[in-house]
Amino acid sequence: MPLMIRGFKLHQSFLGVEAQRGMLEDIRAVVRAAPFFSPMTPYGKPMSVRITAAGQYGWFSDKTGYRYVETHPAGTPWPKIPASIRAVWDSVSGVERAPECCLINYYGEGTKMGLHQDRDEADFAWPVVSISLGDEGLFRIGNTTRGGKTESVWLHSGDVMVMGGPARLTYHGVDRIRFGSSRLLPKGGRLNLTLRVVT
Ligand code: SIN
Ligand code: MN
Repeated sequence: MPLMIRGFKLHQSFLGVEAQRGMLEDIRAVVRAAPFFSPMTPYGKPMSVRITAAGQYGWFSDKTGYRYVETHPAGTPWPKIPASIRAVWDSVSGVERAPECCLINYYGEGTKMGLHQDRDEADFAWPVVSISLGDEGLFRIGNTTRGGKTESVWLHSGDVMVMGGPARLTYHGVDRIRFGSSRLLPKGGRLNLTLRVVT
């Protein structure tokens, strides 16, 4: 049974170690075709997470703002969403529609992500499905409007979170990671995959 935290559905240990390793191999293939890059915030500072994507769209940010784009900064189309990742969407999203983007975030030592809403998609009726791999991350959950009390939960490798329904626009972020807490990534760090319907 998933845990419900402020409307987010957390499936702890959804993926076993072998499934995590297989997914990691699939992510490595994506990253070979579409290398990680550091997006610039609209304020002109590079974000501390490094990102890439698979699917028809990838998430992108620069001084003109946040948006989805059909090509990697190198000009190439994004690789296909690996079947191992798509299968997680099919089991937990509760919807028939296919995801169009798998955003891949890499959190190195000292990386964090401020509280934000996922609101660059066209229709918030579709959930966002988030998969955590590697080091533990302290995930903070706020409210559907900015401010107010928040709650935090440590996300572990193999955990899957569904951000949908009335919680689709709930503020969330990652305060810190416990660098080196998992042995999945030989050089440490945390990967987070978010599957999204974009259009
Ligand atoms: C995100 O909100 O894009 C990432 C969340 C996470 O890293 O768990
Ligand atoms: Mn987000």
